Amino acid sequence: MNIEQKLLKLQERDRLAEAGGGEERRAREHKLGKMTARERIEFLLDEGTFEETDKFVTHRTTEFGMAEQVVLGDGFVTGYGRIEGRLVFVFAQDFTVFGGSLSETNAAKIVKVMDQAARVGAPVIGLNDSGGARIQEGVRSLAGYADIFLRNVLSSGVVPQISAIMGPCAGGAVYSPSMTDFILMVDKTAYMFITGPEVIKAVTHEEVSKDELGGATTHNTKSGVAHFMAHDDAECLSMIRELLSFMPSNNLEEPPRKPTNDPIDRADEKLDTVVPAESNLPYDIKDVITKVVDDEYFFEVQEHYARNIVIGFARFNGRPVGIVANQPNFLAGVLDINSSIKAARFVRFCDCFNIPLVTFEDVPGFLPGVQQELGGIITHGAKLLYAFAEATVPKVTIITRKAYGGAYCVMSSKHIRSDVNYAWPTAEIAVMGPDGAVNIVYRRELDKAQKEGGDAAYAAARAEKIEEFREKFANPYVAAERGYVDGVIRPRDTRKKIIQALEMLDGKRDKNPPKKHGNIPL
Ligand code: HXC
Repeated sequence: MNIEQKLLKLQERDRLAEAGGGEERRAREHKLGKMTARERIEFLLDEGTFEETDKFVTHRTTEFGMAEQVVLGDGFVTGYGRIEGRLVFVFAQDFTVFGGSLSETNAAKIVKVMDQAARVGAPVIGLNDSGGARIQEGVRSLAGYADIFLRNVLSSGVVPQISAIMGPCAGGAVYSPSMTDFILMVDKTAYMFITGPEVIKAVTHEEVSKDELGGATTHNTKSGVAHFMAHDDAECLSMIRELLSFMPSNNLEEPPRKPTNDPIDRADEKLDTVVPAESNLPYDIKDVITKVVDDEYFFEVQEHYARNIVIGFARFNGRPVGIVANQPNFLAGVLDINSSIKAARFVRFCDCFNIPLVTFEDVPGFLPGVQQELGGIITHGAKLLYAFAEATVPKVTIITRKAYGGAYCVMSSKHIRSDVNYAWPTAEIAVMGPDGAVNIVYRRELDKAQKEGGDAAYAAARAEKIEEFREKFANPYVAAERGYVDGVIRPRDTRKKIIQALEMLDGKRDKNPPKKHGNIPL
């Protein structure tokens, strides 16, 4: 064979690998509105930066007629490239080859990029579209999964791991994404479940559609498994690029800064009146967030799930931060099981990757109720407390209104190592709200008023006590007198105050006592 023939052989192999499962199967994917694995990678990465690895790897199975069905690359496209010039590693499952199922050999391809990414300190992005374990390979495929799961765990907190679910993901195909930092799902074409509707019907006799069981809406609104929902592949891939812009490439780096023309001291007068005069009226905390962050741009995470707490990324004078905020507009911003878990995981992500935390607090407390107690609110609420207390990144807290009870301690209070805490003049910081407090503290006096003067006397005495309590405790000044907040600030100055605090904290070094790892209440 001369050199020309050798080059032609290489060209032919490249063509075969790129053909995947063939024209017909690719057309089926396009008809469903999906891109192919290679198209996805091309769309995701900076143009011309993709370097493919293991393009000619094949499976080694001979049973079930598999020896006659060999596709170069074995259905997974792996390699590395750049996003906004920064190195990332990527793998994409090609549904046109055995339904993107995982074999011994294509698992090894993923393991290779994950190991390389951990060694050089770059994020791993998985574009998932897979029928799970390759049935023809039996336990060899399961071993491949376990090899990947181990890497997910070892890389957790070392390099960011992002999973896009862009087609069916069944069985083992869902566990790896679940251990990564963020899951994005494409509406209508993506679904995730451990066992599908047919198995469920056989075992529990429940009837459910694929979409109801594991579609993008389900996992973004009900289960909380997913963090983002995209309308199509293109939007999903663009969201990954956006998400990465807020995080460093690994745990030893700082997040990248993005220059802004938004003035540091931009004061928005509307903030002074955003909190209603009546303390039980709602307002949208996102109005506060967008008014103080750079260019009013807030990239929300888990927007549709546990909406009583808001989490997401933004920047202050170019510096990325993670924002955690109670949402008075939904369930009065109360902390419950779902919102505690949602925020705790986000806080831990930010802490892993040196992203400062900015907390906006307006919380009436933990949600009372039998369901919550029996569901383990004690353990789940403690997750958020643990996460904030454990975090050593710069922490800044703004109390806009209510900071009651245990929730006061939990929401990044000074006592659990928050660095800078400010209260607005509208803040109410106490063990509980005036209504509840008066019923307990003045029960005897109120009973006496009832006995002596009837309902009218009771109501008058109660109103008087409530007003007295409000004056005494439902304000920021008791906490300010003790240094539990560092200052009471005009709402319009919030942006400037946060930026100044973050700048002061730029060199912050704090650490936890040496240990193998803590034992977060799981
Ligand atoms: C081998 C598979 C496959 C698999 C799909 N295919 N899943 N091949 N192993 N796991 C093949 C099909 O034979 C078909 O081949 C092609 O992929 C496309 O599949 P379709 O069924 O035609 O596509 P669709 O109708 O879109 O359905 C997609 C699907 C379904 C819902 C994913 O294929 C399915 O239910 N697959 C099996 C899912 C599953 O039970 N996986 C094992 C889970 S156990 P042709 O040649 O016709 O194109 C597991 C354990 C791991 O993963 C546990 C680790 C902790």
